[in-house]
Amino acid sequence: MVIATTIEEVRAQVRAWKQERLTVGLVPTMGYLHEGHASLVDKAVSMCDRVVASDFVNPTQFGPNEDLEAYPRDFDRDCALLEEHGCAMVFHPEVSEMYAEDAATYVEILSDMPKQLCGKTRPIHFRGVCTVVSKLFNIVTPDKAFFGQKDAQQLAIIRRMVRDMSYGIEIVGCPIVREEDGLAKSSRNTYLSPEERQAALILSKSIFLGQKMVEEGETDANKIVAAMTANIQTEPLARIDYVSAVDGVTMMPVDQIQGTVLVAMAVYIGKTRLIDNFIVEKGA
Ligand code: PAF
Repeated sequence: MVIATTIEEVRAQVRAWKQERLTVGLVPTMGYLHEGHASLVDKAVSMCDRVVASDFVNPTQFGPNEDLEAYPRDFDRDCALLEEHGCAMVFHPEVSEMYAEDAATYVEILSDMPKQLCGKTRPIHFRGVCTVVSKLFNIVTPDKAFFGQKDAQQLAIIRRMVRDMSYGIEIVGCPIVREEDGLAKSSRNTYLSPEERQAALILSKSIFLGQKMVEEGETDANKIVAAMTANIQTEPLARIDYVSAVDGVTMMPVDQIQGTVLVAMAVYIGKTRLIDNFIVEKGA
């Protein structure tokens, strides 16, 4: 596996692959990889001739009081996982390689979409995500890019950015990967103490409760959200940021389970903010 730290190295390697008419897949990550990331790489390897993963903790998507400095990092372990799963190149730049000191250009969706759900408490987050993903698209020029459904709002926003900016890159969404007991895999799970790790199960338990209500025929989105909220409130270590049902494409709130609906939550367990969600596809 090639380890590239500069934009030029990535461009030269991708150019060589494209001369051989090989297709290129991109898996953007912030490192500290787990099986959720591995599943993205596996999917990319199954659909593309060469896979590039980026491993970069992107400062522009962290707010002033968020966990940028504390965000877990282990590049050697990441490389071992990526190589084992068939990744051909990892791009691991310094912040200065990605952002000039006087960088002042951002990519931002100017609709209400990034202001919903996570955007309510993380107002600059999606501007940072769109900016770095857009830069990665320009650097790697992939045919396809792979993102996890766990970050459902991010996935929807990237799809919109790709459409609006005519990137011509296929965005492939990949299912949430869970621990055996149900907790969605996340690099932030490492922040949890053993007691908090146990308490964090309230997220997936509430997701499964919501899914069961839908399966049993409930179509009132507010009733589903209320039941999930009440369930989370039974856990003393949990503090709800949001539990919401929104349109799966626009991210705007819905009252009925109709069409594509995203039911999503962000919950603090102690100081750690965790997210989880499920998607419902219901015909008219
Ligand atoms: O999902 C993430 O890990 C990040 O938001 C991403 C897409 C790699 C951009 O920094």
